[in-house]
Amino acid sequence: MKLLVPAYVKSIVPYPPGKPLDELERQYGITNAIKLASNENPWGPSPKALAAIAAALDDLHRYPDGSSYALTQALAKHLGCDPNMLVLGNGSNEVIEFLVKACIEPGDEVITSHPSFLMYQKFVQIRGGINKVIPLANMRHDFDAIVDALSERTRLIFIDNPNNPTGTLFSSEELLQLCHVLPESVALVLDEAYVDFVDQEQQLDSVGLIQQSKNGPQIVSLRTFSKAYGLAGLRLGFGIMSASLANMLHRVRQPFNINTLAQVGALAALDDSDHYWRTIGGTRAGMRFLQKEVEKLGCCSYPSQANFFLIDVRGDANRLYEAMLYKGVIVRSMHAYGYPSCIRITVGTEAENYRFVGALAECLRELHYV
Ligand SMILES: Cc1ncc(COP(=O)(O)O)c(C=O)c1O
Repeated sequence: MKLLVPAYVKSIVPYPPGKPLDELERQYGITNAIKLASNENPWGPSPKALAAIAAALDDLHRYPDGSSYALTQALAKHLGCDPNMLVLGNGSNEVIEFLVKACIEPGDEVITSHPSFLMYQKFVQIRGGINKVIPLANMRHDFDAIVDALSERTRLIFIDNPNNPTGTLFSSEELLQLCHVLPESVALVLDEAYVDFVDQEQQLDSVGLIQQSKNGPQIVSLRTFSKAYGLAGLRLGFGIMSASLANMLHRVRQPFNINTLAQVGALAALDDSDHYWRTIGGTRAGMRFLQKEVEKLGCCSYPSQANFFLIDVRGDANRLYEAMLYKGVIVRSMHAYGYPSCIRITVGTEAENYRFVGALAECLRELHYV
């Protein structure tokens, strides 16, 4: 190719999404495969969202409302914040992209953790920024090392809570201590994609923190409709932040970044507390069942506050991942994430959880792991 593309773009390794079900069934000539690899909602979308989407189909010849007015108002009411503090994105992924676009110029630094959600680093690379990647300590964000990594050029810090893939949490005391030492020139981004699954008493009041913060870093909370609300395919996420930072993010977004169906679907899902609480309850029950069963099989399960958890299978995780594919079960190997004997699985429906445990037992036997 003759076209000149910057070296920092050429060096980007594309994000590895979980294997799609269709692809597995095509490749292995099987049917009825299940996917427990992408932390999706196994109970499907909210029926209220589906009805709202169906009702909006006749309007698809019109551009969407570029301000997502109704959804923004409803979210602000739901969260108890000013609508000007919200920025909606095509998935929370897009809000991560807006933050990087708005705050980073080539050579600026962004602090992330490893292993953690990979997209933070990808967006920084696209922008020519510099990733400073801090290894987790005992599967948790290492706040001391994050502070040590600060420099004059640090603009953003991304920490997910719970962390993907470990499912670990930090406390509000730890967060406040971190905020005390961060300069005003930095934005601290709390990615709360899985916050809905966290036990009530362990949830941080991130909205209150953002509203109260005066001096110190900008605090941003990221949320999504892809997990507890079951709308991963619709692509709707949002960020909560000071109105002044939100104003900057709106400058870098396309005028119609949230499509009409996502606006009406998310609005209806927000109002469907039956579906929401069924998801939270089903996830917690499924997690208890799965953790008990995998321990019985001789594996080690790690506690998690999300809808996924890590399992140490006591052998090579890549081989187990492959063996599970033959049984029609897609999980995630954590080999490339620095945990060579761990897989990450998403809690499924009751039937999927049983199927997973059966397939795991067979694979462990076949591979002589336990
Ligand atoms: C920690 C974390 N943040 C953000 C996202 C992206 O979510 P969305 O579907 O809203 O783009 C994910 C998706 O898996 C995630 O695990």
